Amino acid sequence: MNKTIFITGTSSGLGKASARYFAEQGWNVAATMRSPEKETDLTKYSNIKIFRLDVTNLAEVQQATQDAINAFGKIDVVINNAGMGAYGALELAKEADIDWQFAVNTRGPINIIRAFLPHFRNNGGGMFINVSSFMGLTTAVPLGSLYNMSKFALEGLTEGLYYELKPLNIELRLIEQGGSTDNNFINNVVWNVNPDITVYDDLTRKLKHLFETADRSLKDDTLDIVKVLFDLATRKSNKFRTVIGNSGNGLMALRNSVPIETYLEQISQNFS
Ligand SMILES: NC(=O)c1ccc[n+]([C@@H]2O[C@H](COP(=O)([O-])OP(=O)(O)OC[C@H]3O[C@@H](n4cnc5c(N)ncnc54)[C@H](OP(=O)(O)O)[C@@H]3O)[C@@H](O)[C@H]2O)c1
Repeated sequence: MNKTIFITGTSSGLGKASARYFAEQGWNVAATMRSPEKETDLTKYSNIKIFRLDVTNLAEVQQATQDAINAFGKIDVVINNAGMGAYGALELAKEADIDWQFAVNTRGPINIIRAFLPHFRNNGGGMFINVSSFMGLTTAVPLGSLYNMSKFALEGLTEGLYYELKPLNIELRLIEQGGSTDNNFINNVVWNVNPDITVYDDLTRKLKHLFETADRSLKDDTLDIVKVLFDLATRKSNKFRTVIGNSGNGLMALRNSVPIETYLEQISQNFS
C-alpha cells in the first residue's frame, strides 16, 4: 500500500516542493495550507488532496487532521513545515507579533503533534519531521531573537518528546535548513519597527540589506532539502538532526569550536 504524508504550509517554498516530490515518488499527500482556494498547481496531482489548515487554529487542526485520516485511512509521516519570521528589535515588536511568532513556529507543531498522536498510537507508530533552522541551534544575525526563540523551542520540544514517544514506536526528526532558492519566506517577514525609536535603525538596515542581497551561494537548492526529507521519511537516513547546507554547517562548526563569548563577538562584528 502507498505511504501517506501530511505536510503543513504547502502554499509555497519547501512545503510545496515537498508535496510535489512525494507525490511524484508515488506517495499519497495530504497537502495543507491556509488558502486552498488559491492553489492551482498541487490540484493537478491525483494523489494529492488539499486541506485548509492554519496551524494556529485548533478547530482547523482537528478538522484537517481528521479529514486527512478519513481520506487516506492512514498517515505514516507528518512534516511540520509551516513557519514565518518576525525580525527586528525586541523592544519594537508588537505584542501580537511576539505571540504570532510563537503561535506559528512552535505552538503550531505542538497542535499538529497532539492531533496526530492518537492516530499514531493506534497504528503502532509513525514519524514527525519538524522543519527547524540553523537559527534553532545557534544565533546567526542580530535582531532575530524572536525567530531564534521559536526554533530553539521547536528543537527542545522535539528532543524532549523523544523519550515518551520512543516506547510507542513514534519517531522524531529535525532538519535545520538555512533557506532554499525559491521560498517566499523573506516576503512574509514581519519587521518590528517604530519610527520614534531610531537606535536600532543601523542594525535593521544592515540585516534587511543582507536578506535582500543574500546570493544563491548562501542558499540551498530546494530539491536538495526535499530529498533530505524524503530520505528521512523513507528511513534511508536515521539522523535525528540534519543540518543542511554550507551556511548552517559552517556556523555550527564555528559555534562548536570556540567559546560562546568568542562566537557572539564574531557574529556581532559582522554587523558592526
Ligand atoms: N527561507 C528561509 O530562510 C528559512 C530558513 C530556515 C528555516 N526555514 C523554515 O522552513 C520552513 C518553510 O519555509 P520556506 O522557506 O519554505 O518559506 P515560505 O515559502 O514562506 O513557506 C512558509 C509556509 O508556511 C505557511 N504558513 C505561514 N503561517 C502559517 C500558519 N499560521 N498556518 C499554516 N501555514 C502557515 C505559509 O503559508 P501562507 O502562504 O498562507 O503564508 C507557507 O506555505 C519554515 O518553518 C521556516 O521557518 C526557512
